[in-house]
Amino acid sequence: MKIFITGVAGFIGFHTARRLLEDGHKVMGIDNLNDYYDVNLKKERLSLLKKLGLEFEKGDICHQGPFLSATLFKPDIFLHLAAQAGVRYASINPKAYVDSNLNGFFNVLEWIRFYPHIPLIYASSSSVYGNQTEAPFEESAKADEPESFYAATKRANELMAYSYHQSFGIKSCGLRFFTVYGPYGRPDMAYYSFTQDFLAGRPLKVYHEGKALRDFTYIDDIVEGIVSVINRAPLQGIYNLGSSDPYSTLELIGCIEDYFGKKALIEFVQGPKGDVDKTYACLTHSFNDLEFKPKTSLKEGMRSFLDWYSSYHKLQVQLN
Ligand SMILES: NC(=O)c1ccc[n+]([C@@H]2O[C@H](COP(=O)([O-])OP(=O)(O)OC[C@H]3O[C@@H](n4cnc5c(N)ncnc54)[C@H](O)[C@@H]3O)[C@@H](O)[C@H]2O)c1
Repeated sequence: MKIFITGVAGFIGFHTARRLLEDGHKVMGIDNLNDYYDVNLKKERLSLLKKLGLEFEKGDICHQGPFLSATLFKPDIFLHLAAQAGVRYASINPKAYVDSNLNGFFNVLEWIRFYPHIPLIYASSSSVYGNQTEAPFEESAKADEPESFYAATKRANELMAYSYHQSFGIKSCGLRFFTVYGPYGRPDMAYYSFTQDFLAGRPLKVYHEGKALRDFTYIDDIVEGIVSVINRAPLQGIYNLGSSDPYSTLELIGCIEDYFGKKALIEFVQGPKGDVDKTYACLTHSFNDLEFKPKTSLKEGMRSFLDWYSSYHKLQVQLN
């Protein structure tokens, strides 16, 4: 199969492209390589993918370039992962979310409108559930009280995609990812920045007394879910991809402490606006339709992340 991926230099894009290339698919990816977090990490991911045969173009979904590339590539599947991610940055720079997540997403839909036989798979987020949803969160629950502007743009994507299905007959599948973590992960996420602070001997700044619950989901399980959607395409609808096994921030920190055999310094601070108290995926719909069944416990997944973190950052020290 030929799969076109936006945001291929990102965390989830990288792991998905790697798996698809290893499975023998032809993959073309685009990314604007923005500096929301360390660009070297994005370049490192890309260089690994290019060795496996990735065809890459630098480009921004707010412009036409990526769509001309997609037209020439003639994909069987369009996997859209490029977005301005992050809940907290949305209160600092909402415009970045309007550009990539609303205008960029509109451009994706417009491209698909001309190729309606090509299934669209796109990233949504557990943040759409806000703070009002009864746990575990079912896809059919109301999702109209976003706590952050990021969540609002992701929910808007789902509604925009649905309206293009109704109006133009395109088929799209939105995946609500729940706090994805793992090797080559995102430095802006808590599991990564806690590890950095822990190793530097700095106190970890912990919100909500460490009691906030997150449905941490290991990257390999997410990739398995995406592959399952690709194999069943075209699908129309929305699916949770989570672990359905939430842990608190303090339990997450416990994994780092156990791995390094040392207690963390913790400073409890007031949480920012936009954060939700808990995320917790109901997986009935994704199990029924996708046979989605995550396998990795938080302890195992964090061990893999910390193994990778140790070797990746040691390598950088040697290079400098
Ligand atoms: N990682 C998670 O826990 C999580 C949870 C819920 C939803 N998501 C969603 O999943 C998708 C992938 O997330 P990720 O964790 O890999 O994030 P990421 O930031 O690592 O990857 C996104 C990639 O998209 C690129 N990009 C951003 N704007 C672009 C634009 N306008 N044009 C072209 N490229 C652009 C970035 O450079 C980046 O490489 C995103 O849509 C994100 O919102 C992620």
